[in-house]
Amino acid sequence: MELIICKNEEEVTRQTANLIIKDIILDPKTTLGLATGSSPIGVYEKLVNAYQSGLISFKDVETFNLDEYIGIDRSHPQSYYSFMNQHLFNHIDINRDNIHLPRNHGGELEDLANEYSKMIDESEIELQLLGIGSNGHIGFNEPGTPFRNETFIVELDEQTRNDNARFFSSLEEVPKFAITMGIKNIMRAKKIVVLAFGKNKSDAVYKMINGNITNLLPASILQLHPNCTVIIDEAAASKLNK
Ligand code: F6R
Repeated sequence: MELIICKNEEEVTRQTANLIIKDIILDPKTTLGLATGSSPIGVYEKLVNAYQSGLISFKDVETFNLDEYIGIDRSHPQSYYSFMNQHLFNHIDINRDNIHLPRNHGGELEDLANEYSKMIDESEIELQLLGIGSNGHIGFNEPGTPFRNETFIVELDEQTRNDNARFFSSLEEVPKFAITMGIKNIMRAKKIVVLAFGKNKSDAVYKMINGNITNLLPASILQLHPNCTVIIDEAAASKLNK
């Protein structure tokens, strides 16, 4: 794992965005794996700026998102589909046919999950962007999920639902299930970039980098990825080297 510790959140998002921008410049037809949540918002802002200034185009870029809630419609403001439109897709020249998020309706959920895994495998993700949950999840691979899982239906951890309640008007509104890329899908990406900031991520970050490789801390599997870069601020790094 390559570790980059930045002074602040702004520097984390700048360095992360630059890795993605570099990929698109070198290969305008690249395939990106994308995340939602608060961590990548600043990164998407910088990608939009890079597009608007003419540095990059998303015309031939293909994207696969990590996950989507089950039980809310795509048009719900807190669906990950809405999130991606709001923060990235509505502001760039991406071809809508090249945007992929796990589908949460319109078929048996298990079939939809298998279909998504197959599509990811056929396209091969060049760079997968990840945030990390305070419980060490990546995507919605919650503690205890088998590492060999491909895209699957997951019951969300209580901690995850509590963490995400800030985006909804009450905890009851937070969906209980989601569809997520499995660890196996994530580990097949050629490059992985994990970003994190803030003290509440410091424990998970410490265990991801220095802990045992265990599915009780799903992000610890990233120690085994051949090309994984972790970009964090000083607060998220505060438990390292202690
Ligand atoms: C989002 C995702 C999650 C988040 C994680 C951190 O698509 O898969 O793993 O990356 O929950 O969320 P934030 O960035 O909101 O702290």
